[in-house]
Amino acid sequence: MKSDVQQTHGLDPARLPNHVAVIMDGNGRWAKKRWMNRVKGHEEGSQTVRTIVESCRKLQIPFLTLYAFSTENWARPRSEVSALMHLLKKFLTSECEEMMEKGICLKVLGQLEKLPEDVQARAKKTMAATSDNTRMTLNLALSYGSRQEITTALQILAQKVKAGDLAPEDISEQMISDHLYTAGIPDPDLVIRTSGEFRLSNFLLWQSAYAELFITPTLWPDFTRAEFIEILTHYQKRDRRFGKVACSMPSDGSPQ
Ligand code: FPP
Repeated sequence: MKSDVQQTHGLDPARLPNHVAVIMDGNGRWAKKRWMNRVKGHEEGSQTVRTIVESCRKLQIPFLTLYAFSTENWARPRSEVSALMHLLKKFLTSECEEMMEKGICLKVLGQLEKLPEDVQARAKKTMAATSDNTRMTLNLALSYGSRQEITTALQILAQKVKAGDLAPEDISEQMISDHLYTAGIPDPDLVIRTSGEFRLSNFLLWQSAYAELFITPTLWPDFTRAEFIEILTHYQKRDRRFGKVACSMPSDGSPQ
């Protein structure tokens, strides 16, 4: 019998991204277009989260990172922040059993300690319960900001230098990566942003150095499995050179 991957729209299983990261944008506009409260957009967005997690699982994409709440999002109206926290807690609670069944390990990237205590407790519970699952890792970026993440990593390294445990010239790229929330997680190969904005919005700035970027005008609640597959199809056609020249090019860079 064919696996899910082989059945899926002609995608080459060997060339799927190892790590997909998503800036889930457009919930507010989705709601506004329907004369609804912004929170309704976030609720619909939660359904899309389920769809995309399931799609990645079926495609056997081992890492998915979702930007669910940024360090800047704390500045939103209190009612919206509180509704988002409620939705996150609901998701962490309702999906735990399914994550166990499906072998998904949950991780939180970000300032866990800044989340309301009940959300923190639920996140810790789900992370602990799912920590031995190995089929897929779902990273939720919560109270996450790349600049804060890099600053904290550099503060830790600076302390080590100050204590005489580390020479400045020994600070390597790997060492910085190892002090980020994403330590041990491969860099994203593909970053998708919905809602048509051409920005990274403080998301995985270090880790996305060589990621392929895809911006779609679709608002997050309208994003579907079919569009995800379409993006993966485009991704597979991209020539990822990581700053090098293609093998068929002579070393002076002139076309053959
Ligand atoms: C950006 O849209 C989206 C967010 C700030 C929150 C994302 C949250 C969810 C998708 C739902 C909860 C998450 C999980 C994991 C269950 P926006 O509100 O900035 O949209 P706008 O730019 O159209 O106003």
